[in-house]
Amino acid sequence: MRIDVVTVFPRWFDALFADGIPRIAREKGLVELGVTDLRAFARDRRGTVDDRPYGGGPGMVLMPGPVFESVETLEAEGARAGLRPPARRMLMTPQGRRFDQRMARALAHEPWLILICGRYEGFDERIHTGLGAEAVSVGDYVLSGGEPAASVVIDAVVRLLPGALGHEDSAETDSFAAGMLSWPQYTRPPVYRGMEVPEVLLSGDHGRIAAWRRERARERTLARRPDLLAKETPSTEK
Ligand code: 6GU
Repeated sequence: MRIDVVTVFPRWFDALFADGIPRIAREKGLVELGVTDLRAFARDRRGTVDDRPYGGGPGMVLMPGPVFESVETLEAEGARAGLRPPARRMLMTPQGRRFDQRMARALAHEPWLILICGRYEGFDERIHTGLGAEAVSVGDYVLSGGEPAASVVIDAVVRLLPGALGHEDSAETDSFAAGMLSWPQYTRPPVYRGMEVPEVLLSGDHGRIAAWRRERARERTLARRPDLLAKETPSTEK
């Protein structure tokens, strides 16, 4: 898949692909990342991409011109490279629909995403309406810009691309994959500072281990995220 990011902080994304799963996915050719500096589409030499809000008030608002032109340029370039526009256009904003594992799974099937990072107090509403960009938020708190949120989305999507993870079933046992948090994990040593690994995990009894894990996952979800259990779809398993 191809992912393009439009940002005033292009260097932010160097770190994202420098290590770990995103780096491996890129090296394997599973994802191609393009980072576009929004200021390259400014009308003036100073790289201005924001202006004061009509109607008054504090802060600055991202102007429509540079964003429209950057997206149109990216899509024209993508088309020449064999992609089929329009890309799925996403606007990173705390006022967006909440990103979750389900959305990550859906996005992992898309051939082409363009993530537009908001900055400052907001963006001209015509970026949302005129560009058909869906507003996406990563949670109920405010970040100073969309870049960390875009990184969250990209990481969550890229690790789901077939071949990105070492173990094919890793993504299926993730927290949220089954609408629940994951179970507690342990590794060597069996006793550390007096704290023991639960006996069942050393037993080699795969049936008992699976039952223990299901139980602990449910317990942990109930304690930490009861909201997940409330909306869980009934399972066929007892
Ligand atoms: Cl996508 N952007 C900003 N600026 N803040 C956020 C967010 C996005 N998601 C949660 N908070």
